[in-house]
Amino acid sequence: MKNKKALCYVALLALMVWCIKGFWSNNTVKVKPLELDQSQQEFQQQVNRDDLLRKEHEISTLKVEMARLKMESSKCGLESKFSPEIPKIYAITPTHYRAVQKAELTRLSHTLMLVPNLHWVVVEDAESKTDLVTKLLAKTGMSYSHLNAATPKSWKPKAKEPRWVKPRGVLQRNTALQWLRDNVSPNEDGVIYFVDDDNSYSLEVFEEMRYLKGVGVWPVGLVGGLMVERPKINAEGKVTGWLTVWSPNRPFAIDMAGFAINLKLFHSKPNGKFSFESEKGYQESELLKHFVGSLNELEVKADNCTKVFVWHTRTEQANLAQEIKLRKENKPRSDIGIEV
Ligand code: UGA
Ligand code: MN
Repeated sequence: MKNKKALCYVALLALMVWCIKGFWSNNTVKVKPLELDQSQQEFQQQVNRDDLLRKEHEISTLKVEMARLKMESSKCGLESKFSPEIPKIYAITPTHYRAVQKAELTRLSHTLMLVPNLHWVVVEDAESKTDLVTKLLAKTGMSYSHLNAATPKSWKPKAKEPRWVKPRGVLQRNTALQWLRDNVSPNEDGVIYFVDDDNSYSLEVFEEMRYLKGVGVWPVGLVGGLMVERPKINAEGKVTGWLTVWSPNRPFAIDMAGFAINLKLFHSKPNGKFSFESEKGYQESELLKHFVGSLNELEVKADNCTKVFVWHTRTEQANLAQEIKLRKENKPRSDIGIEV
């Protein structure tokens, strides 16, 4: 009796499986393999061959274009953008808030973005990192480090004093130098260059400094009340002095933009840094005395110091007369909700 019942169940189950199978097979579309006749097959093969030829043509066009771009970029020194083995340039920029800061940093970043293997060390003269600089740096896609160090009040010019009574960027540059000592290997090939946020830089200046063994020098345009200040070079191509008018007896009468230092040399002199205590206009000399024994050691760049690749430009202060008037009249400022 038990066996008969079990048999019935099995039969019923088999019937159900058979019904479901039948249902599915009726409802699924049976795709018949596409049967192509001879001429259709030949046509399809021709289409495939044409497609392949077109792709091969595209690849060779791209190869030609790549070669052309490589050639073009090598003309402006950009070919090495993709060569991590070339020495790295550590560009140190002190920056402080004023109405034109974003404009200056934007302009500068758009130059630096074109320089291969450059790491930008930006040091804000501020109690904490600002949103403006943080966002700007992130947007560049560059390799950078963002630091901050606020200049003590006693080292800022007083309200009515001219800006040159106190040295600028001292603490910020020293903060960057300390960062380099702590974070960059002494075995790395590279150079250090001080890049103020308001100067104008040709891409050429970066390629002049890249392979320096010690300290390299070159002319700086529009500085010291002259069209150009530059090292005096003798027939042997060595520096013998400085073609400057303002304070020509400084040991290194050169602007911050006119020299760069090899990274290994920098690491070998742990005391090399700037000082608030040095005489007005002596910041460059203060630093360079640690790295250069005599003028003879300086590496002469920019075609024997006959070319200007960097200019000590200074941006006019923004005219905010109407903005000030708005504030006096207790009216809303023009830049509410918009970063300038
Ligand atoms: C000249 C030199 O070119 C500077 O390299 C040097 O630091 C300066 O003199 C000096 O004697 O201290 P100048 O155009 O007069 O430059 O200086 P700024 O461009 O006003 O300042 C140099 C850098 O320091 C800029 O990148 C600027 O943003 C920054 N800075 C300036 C601060 O970080 N904080 C300040 O309060 C002022
Ligand atoms: Mn400046």
